[in-house]
Order: sequence, then structure tokens, then C-alpha cells
Amino acid sequence: MIKKALFPAAGYGTRFLPATKSVPKEMLPIVNKPLIHYGIKECMNAGIFEIGFVTGRSKRAIEDYLDKTPEIENAIKGTNKEKLLEEVNEMIDKCVFTYVRQKEMLGLGHAVLTGEPLIGNNPFAVVLADDLCDGDVLNQMVRLYKKFKCTIIAIEEVKKEEVNKYGVINGKEIERDIFLVEDMIEKPEIDKAPSNLAIIGRYILTPDIFDLLRNTKPGKGGEIQLTDALLKQAKEGMVIAYKFKGKRFDCGSVDGFIEATNYFYEKMKNGK
Ligand code: G1P
Repeated sequence: MIKKALFPAAGYGTRFLPATKSVPKEMLPIVNKPLIHYGIKECMNAGIFEIGFVTGRSKRAIEDYLDKTPEIENAIKGTNKEKLLEEVNEMIDKCVFTYVRQKEMLGLGHAVLTGEPLIGNNPFAVVLADDLCDGDVLNQMVRLYKKFKCTIIAIEEVKKEEVNKYGVINGKEIERDIFLVEDMIEKPEIDKAPSNLAIIGRYILTPDIFDLLRNTKPGKGGEIQLTDALLKQAKEGMVIAYKFKGKRFDCGSVDGFIEATNYFYEKMKNGK
């Protein structure tokens, strides 16, 4: 039922300078796979094979990663290194990747709106690749979408002193871990946060979000915020927030990146 996903990937990744001078932050590797690899795998595990990227200048490495590399394949043919390309080649074979460029960085809401031509009038997933998840979070959310047929956003409890890094929701818990959203604020000051339930980078959005985004004025930081459009959607209709099961790493921060590296390295060593 959810066939498409959108990866906003135009940001500069300034927290990872100087690496991100020439390497898109989405291409930074956790062990031996770039962040987008994990995100795409999560999509495939949720039955999503049409994947759009909102990119920008100096992001071409993403397109190159998601294309065949005959020179490398010939060079390693018949060696045990062939298996290192198996997973990415499966992605290339099974998925369709489309791209659009965001010309100006006007915020996450603007990036999602820029992706409209890749999505059309369909419900779709949004994956922020620097929130790296283990536990098939999208698959859990697709199942919820089937039940509620409305926008679903992933949330996680964070420490009170960290709420100012996230969109924060408030709502009524209608079933265990499932909230009907009543309020939502982008990066509130710590003492103004309505809860410690932070939005993480997985969303399933119904396509009416595009009109709402078109009519959303710049908010926090002068950017067009997805959170503001989602609040309108919640007030006019219904938005569900879901405390997902699984682990999530904030790979947009150095600490989260290192934590993810250690976690996935251990998993790899144990053959999982
Ligand atoms: C974005 C969203 C924010 C959300 C976060 C999750 O912020 O605007 O609501 O909590 O992603 O990672 P960003 O981290 O891009 O500043």
C-alpha cells in the first residue's frame, strides 16, 4: 500500500565538516556501508521499492552508489570480494531511484515539497538517513498505516535536556505506544516542550501534506518546517505518533555516529 519513499538529502552536514566538504553526509559509512544503504534496506524490508531523493549540489556520489560499477565488478570477479557488492546490487536491481534537486536550503518541509513530483498523489514514507534505525521501524509504521490510513510519525522518548534538538509532540495515548497527536512544536526551548516524545526521522505521510506545506510559512530558524505542516494536518484531520520498537542512532552527531559504528560492527562480527 505504501510503495514510495522520499529521502531528503540536500543538507550540508556541517556537523561533519571537513568530511562533508566533498562527501555527502548520507554517504558517510557505518562500518562498510553508507548511511543511505541502511535506509534503503529498511524501505525494502517494508515492501517499498520506489525511492526518490531530494538532493542538491555536490551530492552526485549518491547516484553513483545506486548504479552498477562494471569496472569494479570485473576487477573482483571470481574473488570472495564479490559478496561485498551483493546487497547493493540487489537494491539496484529491485528498486527504482529517482532524483530531484533542491535549489535552496529552505528547511525539511521545503525539501519534502520539492519531492512532490517524485511522489505524486500517493501516501509515502520519508526517511532521514542520518537517523539510523535497527528493527525495521518503517515496516512497523506501514502496518499502522494500514490500520489508521493517516499520517504516522515515529517518536522516541528522549532526555528532557535534549528536547530542543527535535520536533516534540503531545497527544493522547489511544493504544499502547500509539498517540493521537494534539500538539507538536519544532525544537522547543527545554522548559516549553509539551513532553519528551521526540519525532525521529521516519514518517508516513498522506499526500495532502503537499498542499499544507505550500501554505506553511517559515517557522523555527526561518525554515519551512515539516512539523508545522503536520500540526495543521493533526488539527484538521488526524495524525498518529508511534513509539516504535527498535534502536535508533542519531548519526548526524559524532557521538551517535560512533555508537552506531560500534553497534553495527558487533552485529557484523556476530554474523547478523
Ligand atoms: C528534523 C525535524 C525534527 C525531527 C528530526 C529527527 O530535524 O525537523 O522535527 O525531530 O529531524 O531527526 P533536523 O534533525 O533535520 O534538524
